[in-house]
Amino acid sequence: MSKKPNRIVVGLFWGDEGKAKIVDFLTKDAEVVIRYQGGANAGHSVEVDGKRFILHQVPTGILHPGKICVLGAGMAIDLPELVEELKNLEKCGIEWRGRLFVSPRAHLVLRFHKDIEKFQEKDVNIGTTLRGIGPAYADKARRIGIRICDVEQNPMAMHLIVGKWAEKCNLYELIKYEGGISEMVDKLINAFCFLGDSISEKSAFIDEIARTSGGVLAEGAQGTMLSLNWGTYPFVTSSETTAGGAAEGIGIDLRLFDEVIGVAKAFCTRVGNGPFPTEADEQTQQILRGTGEHGYDEFGSTTGRPRRCGWFDGVILKYACRINGVDWIALTKLDVLSEIDPIKIATKYKDCEDVPASSSKLNNVIPEYEDFPGWNKQICGARSIEELPENAKRYISTIESISGRKVKYIGTGPGRDDIICLE
Ligand code: IMP
Repeated sequence: MSKKPNRIVVGLFWGDEGKAKIVDFLTKDAEVVIRYQGGANAGHSVEVDGKRFILHQVPTGILHPGKICVLGAGMAIDLPELVEELKNLEKCGIEWRGRLFVSPRAHLVLRFHKDIEKFQEKDVNIGTTLRGIGPAYADKARRIGIRICDVEQNPMAMHLIVGKWAEKCNLYELIKYEGGISEMVDKLINAFCFLGDSISEKSAFIDEIARTSGGVLAEGAQGTMLSLNWGTYPFVTSSETTAGGAAEGIGIDLRLFDEVIGVAKAFCTRVGNGPFPTEADEQTQQILRGTGEHGYDEFGSTTGRPRRCGWFDGVILKYACRINGVDWIALTKLDVLSEIDPIKIATKYKDCEDVPASSSKLNNVIPEYEDFPGWNKQICGARSIEELPENAKRYISTIESISGRKVKYIGTGPGRDDIICLE
């Protein structure tokens, strides 16, 4: 049997590109699916037989019976929330025991991280998901974080660990934490016990799979422009969302990966604050966003916030393809553009070749657009390239020529099989 490719799937813009649908599609060829960064700030949604699943911390691969799923060391994990997510999956008949594993090296997101974040957001106003991600990763970087391997099942011992951590956090004084420690410790221990043997380091196992049968699928969360290093700092998340974060967050030899698949939506969106050069006028935004009545409309899967919508940004596409070393592009939600005419793509910024480092500079760039005639025909559910109108194919080939990468997967609707795969 030939070896399966080891792949990384990453978002090329500000998250919500439709990565979960692509990961779900590629899981058929995978042995193990791993989330390598982020945590419950993600909302990966897949529609299976008309039912929409939204996964926050559990890898999308869980929707395929028998596939192994891992929450890697690079994640910041909210254990009680993870248990809720797993119980909800159980209610839908999805068995996870024996095939889902959590790295003991992953850092914990404590309830207090969420409190701290609410408090900080009043000042900095990043527009975060308020899932405690930033404060948890900040503790990790300050080397005062608590990891899953630090959890003690004895409440007194755990109380002491959390208390010591609290002492190290100056901000803590401000948020009256005392009352909540016991309750939080109990929830944490319960979640830890519920997971039991599922807390187990799998990096050696994944390394072995990658070398032998292949079929390692790394599922990125958020997107390149939310990367702590390469995104629109400070309007970013607190982890490395690019392909570079995968080997690090899983703990395997980075040379084992064969392919990087960059996911781009056919138009751009972002939630939260920060620069968005191609943000459209309100009327166009409303068309792109949808009303909210469908699960696939542009409202946050984690927070329900309406997403900001805009035209496809070719400058960011090129940048993100370079940063991630993208081999193939997956272009999602092409069907949403069906009734828009003309369709615009920003092919360059005036007087600015690349994405500037400074967010205020990016805020002030002037995109230069090319207009494309729309196709004025529903393409929802198309399964072959022949079903796409010429103007849709032209749109795709422009994206290919801007990025210098082939579009290999095209999302044409909300269902898991609404996808065209160009081999
Ligand atoms: P945080 O990750 O909750 O700290 O939020 C930081 C920024 O990333 C905010 O602009 C969030 O809206 C954005 N963000 C975080 N996770 C996601 C996601 O899964 N999709 C889209 N945006 C996200």
